[in-house]
Parts: sequence; C-alpha cells; structure tokens
Amino acid sequence: MRALALSELLLIELAKPSELSLNRRIYDLVRAAIQDDVLVPGTRLPSSRDLARDLNVSRNTVVSAIDQLLAEGYVAARVGSGTYVATRLPERDVARSTRSAVTVLRPNPPQLAIPRRLSRRGLRLTELAGWNHLEVQPFAPGPADYTTLQFRHWNRLLKKYVNDPDPALLDCGDPGGYPPLREAVARYLRVSRSVNVVAEQVLITSSTQQSVDLCARLLADPGDTVWIENPGYWGAQRALDAADLQLRAIAVDSDGIAPSEEDWNTSPRMIYLTPSNQYPTGAVMSLDRRRRILDFAAERNAWILEDDYDSEFRYEGRPLPSLQGMDMQQQVLYLGTFSKVMYQGVRLAYLVVPIDLVERFRIGLYDLFRPGQLTMQAALAAFIDEGHFEVNLRRMRVIYGERRALLRATLSRILGSRVELSRSNAGMTLVIHLPEGCDDGAIATLAARANLTVRALSNYYLTGARSPGLVVGFAYVSTPDITPYAQILARIILEQLEPESPSARAAAGLATTI
Ligand SMILES: Cc1ncc(COP(=O)(O)O)c(C=O)c1O
Repeated sequence: MRALALSELLLIELAKPSELSLNRRIYDLVRAAIQDDVLVPGTRLPSSRDLARDLNVSRNTVVSAIDQLLAEGYVAARVGSGTYVATRLPERDVARSTRSAVTVLRPNPPQLAIPRRLSRRGLRLTELAGWNHLEVQPFAPGPADYTTLQFRHWNRLLKKYVNDPDPALLDCGDPGGYPPLREAVARYLRVSRSVNVVAEQVLITSSTQQSVDLCARLLADPGDTVWIENPGYWGAQRALDAADLQLRAIAVDSDGIAPSEEDWNTSPRMIYLTPSNQYPTGAVMSLDRRRRILDFAAERNAWILEDDYDSEFRYEGRPLPSLQGMDMQQQVLYLGTFSKVMYQGVRLAYLVVPIDLVERFRIGLYDLFRPGQLTMQAALAAFIDEGHFEVNLRRMRVIYGERRALLRATLSRILGSRVELSRSNAGMTLVIHLPEGCDDGAIATLAARANLTVRALSNYYLTGARSPGLVVGFAYVSTPDITPYAQILARIILEQLEPESPSARAAAGLATTI
C-alpha cells in the first residue's frame, strides 16, 4: 500500500467522533486494515515520522500505536528498512471473534476465508487498493458530471427495454454485443474520430480494462513484453500485469510516449498508448511520433492498443486523427468507453479490432466473460440514435470547457510561475506540475483534509524518477464551486511551497474567507 493511501484513510476515519485516545484509534484502525487484507502481509508501513506528519499528530502517538502492533505480532520491524505487516499474523491461528470491532477503512471490506492463500500474482495485484470511495469528491480525476445527463430520455429508454424486453435481449446475445449499438458506435467513430471501422469490427465490453484484458489474453503470451506509458493509467497496468506480461515503462514527454534508444531496441509484443490525451499528463502525441511508432510496430510485429478514453472533450483546435485511422497494417486495436460520456457506473465500453481478428475476439469475449446486459445496450443504442448522446456531448464540452478555464485562471492567478499547468486541451483532468523535490503526496494529503481529492502525479509512475505534481479532475465539480475550491487548493500548494512568504499568507486569508 502507498503511504499516502494509508494516511488518507486514517485521516478520514480519525475525523469521525470517538472517545478513545488517538493512539488507541490508530492502533485499532491499522490492525483492522491488516485483518481485512487492506494492508497485505509484507506491506511496508510509512515511517512513524511521515505518518505523524500526515495525520498531524505527535510522533509519540504513532510510535505507541505501532509498538502495540509490534508487541502483538501484527507488524515486524526489519533493521534499517522499516516496519512491515507480518507475513504470519496472529489472527490466522485464532478465532475471528477476537477481532477488533472497529469498522474497517474500506467501505465494503472483503470477507475472505481463513486461511487465505493468495497467489503471488494475487498478492501483487491487490497490494494497492483502488480506494474508490474517494473517487466521487471535488477534483477527483475520473468521474464525469452525470448530473447534466438527460435522464428524462435515458430513463424512458431504459424502462422501455426493461419493462417490455424482446426475449432476445434476455440472453447473452450476439457474441460481440447488441448489433444496433455496434452500428451506432461504428458510425460515431467514423465521423468524430476518423476511425476506419465497420460495425462488425466493434465489440461491446464492460470497461476499458476488460478490453485491455481481452487483448492481453488473446494477443500475448505470459512473459511477453508490453510497453506502457510512464506515468500512465493504472487500470491498463493492472490488466496487463494480471496477464503476466512484462511491463516495460516508457517515458513520456510533451509529444507523448518517448522511447529511449534502449527502448527502441526491444521487441514488445504489445504497446499500450493514450495518444490523444496522454493519461495523466495530457500530452498529445505528435504526428511524427505517431508515424514512428506505427512503423516500429509494423517492423517488430507488435500490436498497438490505442486507448482513446476521453478525447470527445476537446476545447481548442482540431483533434489529430486516431492512430487507428492512420494505420495501414491493421495492427492497431482501438479502445473507447462510455464511462466518461455517460457516467462512470454505466460499465459499457467498446473495442475495435482488425477485421481478421473479429471472429477470434468474438469467441474470446463470449467464452471468457459471458457478456450480457443487452437491455442496457439496447437503451444506449436508442439514446444515440435519437440524438441525445450527441446533444449531451455538445453540452458537456461547453460546461467542462468553462470549468477548465476557471480552474486554470484561479490556479494561475494565485500560483503564477511557481507551478506549471499541463497544456492539454482535451479531457477532464489538469496536471499541476510542482517544482522538483516537492512532496506531492503530502499536498494531496492536506487537500484530502479539506475534502478535495487530488492525486499525486508521482503515484502514476511505475519506475524511475517521479516528477512531482497533482492530477486534478475538473469535470465533477459544479461550475460555481470551481473557483472557491481552486482557491483552497492553491492556498494549500502555496503554503507548502512558500510557508513564510507574505503572498502565501495573503492567499491563506483569501481562501479562508470564501
Ligand atoms: C486512460 C484511461 N482509460 C480508460 C479509462 C476508463 O476506463 P473504464 O472504461 O473502465 O471506465 C480511464 C478512467 O479514468 C482512463 O483514465
């Protein structure tokens, strides 16, 4: 687990009223997290100094809680390297009834059987928790503002297909998805994203992650190398890691993925990219880079996964054509999702595959995942055909554009040249690049205390040097709230960058009077 995640979660729990002492509560919470595998065996705990700073409590308070956990065998100290969750926990040998009554940090803690034997892969994949309960908060990167969706039409169509379903919609349906939805997606992609596609090539999946998973399973073998962007999207990393592929982290610059000479000399089986709006930096892959990567993939016989997750939201300039649209060799698989243009929980996405892969992918999707949800797919197809989808997109583009402009203006006004704002002109997130050496995790923790969820850019790196920054989502904040929240965030940043400066004090005054 990241130190930040533990601190964030402790902060949330400690904010709740309690009559117990602070050290007792920290002890109870960490113990509960260990018991419920939120902190898995072998996880390194943050140092007592870091934890005390993040929680704003004395170091003695933290030390006393950790000492108690040490004494009871929940954690073990390794000389010179820190404190770790014990590999053999006392709970494994005793009845569960002795467990602490504390509510666990995760909203729905997994009730795993004892003894719990995870595979090495399972341990690796579950070491970092997704912490989804922090996702729907101001500035959380990810969620769309679903409150503006035309639910009148969406609900009418959902009801229509749920109340009086065609019996065919109650089955798993066509392997590949509901044909009218595949038609609608193909039409939309041809016109708005210059994707070379006929409906047959479109497969409806439940998420981008499922699309990546399917590609990884059908196109690569365990141990094959896959290039991923660094920093990059954790969801794709997880799916590729779960397929036992070797992840090779490739640097990113202002022109998108930027392989080194050493990288160009490797032969990846697969390359995962977000060329239209690199996640999370917002870099747009230049035309030169696109050509070079396509040539490279053709030469090495590599597949490219183009994740075009949110470029519907473009605020200035003309979009570059999709990589898939430039591909002459049928080596690009194009991935899109409805979670940004409808709402996060809709769980419908699509995958466009080269024509010669269609049959195998339909079989793979059907046999590995048993897709269904055809009433939902039918409602979505009708929502698109009746024009509501396009109307919603146009509205959201204007609304998000306004929010983005307000956020940029407020941050620039207060922070000036102390930080650099990402220049991306698409999507739903903005990156505040911080000066080298700045602790972005600490700033994210302070923001969490003010109920703002921003993510530390350093957490998006798989390996190597980590540039500090904050990933800020502006979609899920109402327009009138953007400026006051941005002022609070800017104040927190300024206080960290220049604790003594008069401008920090002035900004603090400004923000606290909102
Ligand atoms: C790069 C990237 N791709 C895809 C998605 C969406 O994935 P899903 O379809 O699972 O909602 C996200 C979500 O934040 C993302 O950041």
